[in-house]
Amino acid sequence: MSEGAVKPTNPVVAEAHEVDTFHPPAKMFANLEEYQTLYKESITEPDKFWGRLARELLSWQRDFQTVHSGSFLNGDNAWFLEGQLNASYNCVDRHAIKNPDKPAIIYEADETTDGRTLTYGELLREVCKTAHVLKQMGVKKGDTVAIYLPMIPEALIAFLACARIGAVHSVVFAGFSADSLRDRVIDAQSKVVITTDEGKRGGKLIGTKKIVDDALKQCPDVTHCLVYKRTGADVPFTKGRDWWWHEEVEKWPSYIAPEPMNSEDPLFLLYTSGSTGKPKGVMHSTGGYLVGAAATGKYVFDIHDTDKFFCGGDVGWITGHTYVVYAPLLLGVATVVFEGTPAYPNFSRYWDVIEKHEVTQFYVAPTALRLLKRAGDQHVKAQMKHLRVLGSVGEPIAAEVWKWYFEVVGKGEAHVVDTYWQTETGSNVITPLAGITPTKPGSASLPFFGIEPAIIDPVSGEEIHGNDVEGVLAFKQPWPSMARTVWGAHKRYMDTYLNVYKGVYFTGDGAGRDHEGYYWIRGRVDDVVNVSGHRLSTAEIEAALIEHHAVAEAAVVGINDELTGQAVNAFVAIKDGNEITDQLRKDLILQVRKSIGPFAAPKAIFVVPDLPKTRSGKIMRRILRKILAGEEDQLGDTSTLSDPSVVDKIIETVQASR
Ligand code: WT7
Repeated sequence: MSEGAVKPTNPVVAEAHEVDTFHPPAKMFANLEEYQTLYKESITEPDKFWGRLARELLSWQRDFQTVHSGSFLNGDNAWFLEGQLNASYNCVDRHAIKNPDKPAIIYEADETTDGRTLTYGELLREVCKTAHVLKQMGVKKGDTVAIYLPMIPEALIAFLACARIGAVHSVVFAGFSADSLRDRVIDAQSKVVITTDEGKRGGKLIGTKKIVDDALKQCPDVTHCLVYKRTGADVPFTKGRDWWWHEEVEKWPSYIAPEPMNSEDPLFLLYTSGSTGKPKGVMHSTGGYLVGAAATGKYVFDIHDTDKFFCGGDVGWITGHTYVVYAPLLLGVATVVFEGTPAYPNFSRYWDVIEKHEVTQFYVAPTALRLLKRAGDQHVKAQMKHLRVLGSVGEPIAAEVWKWYFEVVGKGEAHVVDTYWQTETGSNVITPLAGITPTKPGSASLPFFGIEPAIIDPVSGEEIHGNDVEGVLAFKQPWPSMARTVWGAHKRYMDTYLNVYKGVYFTGDGAGRDHEGYYWIRGRVDDVVNVSGHRLSTAEIEAALIEHHAVAEAAVVGINDELTGQAVNAFVAIKDGNEITDQLRKDLILQVRKSIGPFAAPKAIFVVPDLPKTRSGKIMRRILRKILAGEEDQLGDTSTLSDPSVVDKIIETVQASR
């Protein structure tokens, strides 16, 4: 069976759709019919629709003639062929020329007093100087550059400096461990890494450079490491390899011409977790991705010229790529770069930032909203009267959290957009349009332009037509910002997304379509768990656990969690001769932190004598999930297990821990 071709392992639960419908606030209401007309055009005449948008939203150095070519069947989709453009020119130069003093980056540092604002003119100079530095380090068009940076303006400068010279940025979330960073640097064959001395988050220091040093011990091909001085900590330097950012940029002029890129040239790689252990380097190309980012910025978030856009996602994930960096900058507005956490120095931080900078669009994952809702309404003192759009992303948002967002944060005056998408889709694909789409709490509502969803019966592989249906979610037409390949593994790309159900793109999510055609995302049907909006692979965590010398076998499952959405629970069978101690459990958690990163650490570890396996050796995670849910009386048929008696022992272990 190919990687993505899986039967749902999470129950796809149909719910009654007795829900309230919320209409966009009167002050911004536009007509849904406009959406319907444009949507229809985007599906029936996609070339006309996207050709027009691509020319309207981006500046092309050379115009394109072919809007789209290729197919899902062949896995060779390409957009805006013959066209040439440069991402950094589109994000920076064209705004800097018109309006150099306009704010581009509003940096809100971890400490409330440390922030600063960069104008488009300043951004252009910084990007150009940094581009020179990268060139000097030997980076050429098509080379990948690893970026391991916290949420500081230099992260955006690094993205854009790469794009300026045609290098492919490969950003690694700065919460990943040295081992994870190493794997990504090696897989992408990056020779240059950009980082900081330290990071600062929630009042705590993070030894970023130390992690990079550890990773690079096993990356012999890395020739240069550019280090931005964030805290001034005394960090070891490897002579000839490590260079201070501030010393290097000094040496160069403040302009370098943008490299003309073909539309299909890669813009970036971003590693993401799938069903199997090894993360995939999802590749996005230049023209199509930028069109998707700009189009969703304009229509989903209703970005206008003087807006201040605040996406709370980290640049290490796709949300940060598209909605901290590309969408707001392509549209020439200010983007808030927030280094801290929603709880530091107190639970009012987001709201204070919004109030202080007169933020117009705010975009965050439900996990943060759950935390803030629980902390209490008294923290939401700010009026935030400039807010028009409140976005949610990354995981399903429960109706009561949605309503809290709408009423307490938005005071009923801002439109909540629950945006469904993925690293692979590049930009929002099922989402309300701000000011236009009536919304139902918990539903991502209707498809974005060019997206033609299909609900598929996971067993027969047939599309289920009509409304009030449940199944797995696929898309029937290619769209500009879809990922083009998995770096160095096109077959894996085909098998994961395009060969699962022939002729369509498979999302890996279960979904329902209600009686009004609204989509309800039910969650992953593969072995991917979503913890605080972070996408984790159970297989990857299992592989990490097995690296520990005491572990014979491991099985990881995601269970529902009030705060983090899902939480990682691990079952391990240990090798004979090892003692089950609290220390062992701690060591196993450390092992996962070390292999992947702190955010992947299991919330609970159950050491059991054996795992439930079929005679052919397949671990039945379904049984583990049922036991964790306290549904041990509904285990179903366990007779296919090679040793059904293990089940009672596992139940005992789980119950003893409660
Ligand atoms: C998975 C993609 C691209 C956004 C950040 C996560 C889940 C995403 C929603 C939503 C319910 C959602 C899906 C998807 N997801 N948005 N609005 N409602 N679920 O990107 O790490 O690539 O994860 O996140 O399961 O497949 P990602």
